[in-house]
Amino acid sequence: MSGEEKVVCVTGATGYIASWLVKLLLQRGYTVKATVRDTKDLKKTEHLLALDGAKERLKLFKADLLDEGSFDSAVDGCQVMFNGKTLSPDVVIDETWFSDPISCEKLKLWYMLSKTLAEEAAWKFAEENDIDLVAINPGLVIGPLIQPTLGFSLETFLKLVKGTKVFPDGMCILVDVRDVANAHIQAFEIPAASGRYCIVAKVIHYFEVFKILHGLYPTLNLLEKCEDDKPLLPAYKISQDKAKSLVISFVPLEVSLRDTVESFKDYGFLTI
Ligand SMILES: NC(=O)c1ccc[n+]([C@@H]2O[C@H](COP(=O)([O-])OP(=O)(O)OC[C@H]3O[C@@H](n4cnc5c(N)ncnc54)[C@H](OP(=O)(O)O)[C@@H]3O)[C@@H](O)[C@H]2O)c1
Repeated sequence: MSGEEKVVCVTGATGYIASWLVKLLLQRGYTVKATVRDTKDLKKTEHLLALDGAKERLKLFKADLLDEGSFDSAVDGCQVMFNGKTLSPDVVIDETWFSDPISCEKLKLWYMLSKTLAEEAAWKFAEENDIDLVAINPGLVIGPLIQPTLGFSLETFLKLVKGTKVFPDGMCILVDVRDVANAHIQAFEIPAASGRYCIVAKVIHYFEVFKILHGLYPTLNLLEKCEDDKPLLPAYKISQDKAKSLVISFVPLEVSLRDTVESFKDYGFLTI
């Protein structure tokens, strides 16, 4: 590809993961056609426009998943489409569901179902249309922010860090946003990449995450107990063998946690 312009598309570019993807793509010399729902909403786009290389190689396109055909001009002429939004439409969430454990459990099941069905549909579509699809499935994504708003995952994580949400007795499946963005690019650049990749740096009990956070930030107002006193769920692991074939070296958990908290502080979401 050297010598010629490398043009790629990133959808849902204002999002947490996709913003990092745009940043790394620009750093690697790509020209990025990025889709956003509202090109005029500077609050959501100005961090993208301020990235190194954006002036020369970033172009924003207006597109909405619910508006058929709206992605056509953004995808036109691109070597690859990175789906920052993935293929699920929005689910309307009522905040009160989170305070009700049964609704919260149901919501988790709906989320998993919607992701599974969306990925199945993507594989079917790719096969029928001879598209070379690679799926990147991350755990809960943490790490520094480059956009000024919090998505669902970081909003939940912020509540845990602030001690305003009880943490569940369960496993936290964590990965740094920089590794997730990098994995997307590696999956495109490495010709042998194919199929599905689970991108997970660490599977760890919530209470152990809180121990690390407490060590890093003793003044954080963390809760000391999870939501029930039952024996802890057994730990499990997620293999990194396939992910490592994308030549990613995972950011250590302590670094991800520290950088997340520092970002919360920098953007004024947390004062300690
Ligand atoms: N973050 C995690 O921990 C995590 C883990 C596993 C999987 N994922 C999945 O990865 C994807 C990205 O996650 P994220 O945390 O980066 O999300 P995010 O920060 O919430 O960003 C979501 C993006 O989707 C866009 N969007 C929403 N509805 C859309 C529509 N109808 N048409 C076009 N764009 C639309 C939003 O655009 P606007 O700016 O216009 O609202 C935003 O750019 C999501 O599908 C998420 O479920 C995330």
